[in-house]
Amino acid sequence: MPHVIPWSELPNLDEVAPLYGRTPAALADRAAGFPVDVSGHALVGERGVEAAAIRVLDAGACVLAQLARAPGLPPEQALPLVEQGERWTRAHGAERLRVSLWGTPDLGPLLAARGYVLTERFLRLLLPGPAMAPGSLPAGVRPSALRDVGVERFLAMSNAAFATVPGALPLTVDDWNLLAASPGYRQDLLCVLVDERGPLAFVRSELEGSTGSIDALAVDPRGRSLGLGRWLLRWSAQALLAVSCEAVDLWVAESNTPALRLYESEGFRLDKVRESWERAL
Ligand SMILES: CC(C)(COP(=O)(O)OP(=O)(O)OC[C@H]1O[C@@H](n2cnc3c(N)ncnc32)[C@H](O)[C@@H]1OP(=O)(O)O)[C@@H](O)C(=O)NCCC(=O)NCCS
Repeated sequence: MPHVIPWSELPNLDEVAPLYGRTPAALADRAAGFPVDVSGHALVGERGVEAAAIRVLDAGACVLAQLARAPGLPPEQALPLVEQGERWTRAHGAERLRVSLWGTPDLGPLLAARGYVLTERFLRLLLPGPAMAPGSLPAGVRPSALRDVGVERFLAMSNAAFATVPGALPLTVDDWNLLAASPGYRQDLLCVLVDERGPLAFVRSELEGSTGSIDALAVDPRGRSLGLGRWLLRWSAQALLAVSCEAVDLWVAESNTPALRLYESEGFRLDKVRESWERAL
């Protein structure tokens, strides 16, 4: 009988990592930086790990993110992971479950048959060419070290900037400490911009193998449309290409028009599309 268990109860991530095209070590590094209410789960059946997803506990809508299944497994056999996610969502008193798919689009019609509605498409964009130089910052804006800004003020700005962004999760100081202590965290790939009133914008990237990923880019509402988003994007792409990565990628919700326009205008091109489905419970 297939059953769902946390990744932490598996002997290792050897069977989970290939579902995400990662090495076990790279996936373990990622998982070490997950926020407190985020955890990987696997559906284990006769063939071992048959599917996996990342649970995100949220008061209003729980999320089964990056639901991936083993190659050759019929899509309906991944559904117990979704059913278990629905029970877990109800048990936490949340009213909705969002399921985002990872390379398994044929699960979509099965989710639709269970009453799920397609609510968002997430796009992976790639920068094929060299990055442009960031240029100069507006007067009064400068880069600053995180220790000078303070983690709490930094997170307050970041959470305010991401408040309406699909798929974004507010981070607590504990979440940040986990991320900053994880092996994949690179202090040299974080840039925080400040003005005389405090933190204004930031970008954070990671390096995995020869690919650099821009994980988070945000500008506080009071600093928007001044060119800071473009400056940070160029800074990040240049920093990644300088540490010998061959490509730069990022994910963006299709409905996030400001970010999508920015990325397209900087030369990022569509690589993959992943769907996100949602259902009231
Ligand atoms: C996306 C974001 C980072 C842009 O930052 P910004 O500093 O306001 O953007 P810039 O001033 O550098 O503008 C650069 C380009 O972005 C696009 N853009 C910015 N705001 C836009 C808007 N409201 N509508 C449409 N396009 C917009 C434009 O192409 C703009 O170029 P232009 O000025 O030549 O027209 C900012 O809106 C933000 O923090 N949003 C919330 C967090 C977020 O969505 N992060 C990305 C997650 S993937």
